[in-house]
Amino acid sequence: MSNWVRAHTNIALIKYWGKENENVIIPMNNSLSLTLDAFYTETNVTFNENLTTDELYLDNQIQDFDSLLKVKTVLDLVRKKAGIKTKARVDSFNYVPTAAGLASSASGLAALAGSASLAAGLNLSQKELSTLARRGSGSACRSIYGGFAEWQKGHSHETSFAVPVDEANWDIGMLFIIVNDKQKDVSSRDGMSRTVKTSPFYQGWLDSLGQDLSAMKEAIAKQDSHKVGEIAERNALKMHATTLGATPPFTYWSPESMRAMDAVRKLRKQGYSAHFTMDAGPNVKIICKQSELEEIKAHLLNDFTESQLISAKPGPGLQKIEKP
Ligand code: DP6
Repeated sequence: MSNWVRAHTNIALIKYWGKENENVIIPMNNSLSLTLDAFYTETNVTFNENLTTDELYLDNQIQDFDSLLKVKTVLDLVRKKAGIKTKARVDSFNYVPTAAGLASSASGLAALAGSASLAAGLNLSQKELSTLARRGSGSACRSIYGGFAEWQKGHSHETSFAVPVDEANWDIGMLFIIVNDKQKDVSSRDGMSRTVKTSPFYQGWLDSLGQDLSAMKEAIAKQDSHKVGEIAERNALKMHATTLGATPPFTYWSPESMRAMDAVRKLRKQGYSAHFTMDAGPNVKIICKQSELEEIKAHLLNDFTESQLISAKPGPGLQKIEKP
């Protein structure tokens, strides 16, 4: 019997950036995201008595030990809960440009949490699934839900999980400008850790988050996509400012990211409601009205190629799927 599960990626509008506890992944702050339809991962876990180690196949290629670490964390938790010791084979297909800051770990670890728990015969609640996915990768805890979700930081393994905020059945969308789909130099895990430990700007970031989060929730409740974009852009710029103060300093921006940000500002001058956000990579994500996605894309084709531009709408939460 197969246990295929699909999870969609999410993009944070209020960013998670820094951990209070690095071992069990308790964040410094609450974050809020939008799950999208365009990027997802499909995963099937099989526990097999004949295996002597866990195996991960990504797009049919067996992966080395390093990329297994996050996967093992989730599998070990599932084994403990189910009272089994059996090793697992994980088959995963990524419909996400891997590790380009497009949050592939979010959809990947969420799908893994869903499939591994099914394979072990556990019947977990969404809250438990979110908690489990979090241990693989923090942002994954938000991909359990469709639409907007808030990761409530909590203070322990059991109390740190995401909750649904709004289904996003209204006029909001995202357009990705892919400026580089290669592996990033500084992973989000290392980047946030270095920033928390060394950046004098980090406290300033933390101090302004409460205000950003409550303004964001108000904008979502009013279905005001313009305000949502405005707050998200401000929040992302503050997060990225913290990395410049770190020792050694670093940035996820490339010259191409700056060109993309300029293109978004130009769109605003032309009267579009368009703002951007960025994660731990050089790609730029535009937050806009869903009804204006195609028009905005057409404008951007002056500066970028068709294959660099990917439109996305709000997507669903974790799904069990049938796959041949
Ligand atoms: C910039 O969830 O990848 O995308 O918990 O260490 O696995 P770990 O980090 P990860 O960090 C995501 C950081 C971010 C912002 C966000 O998604 O909130």
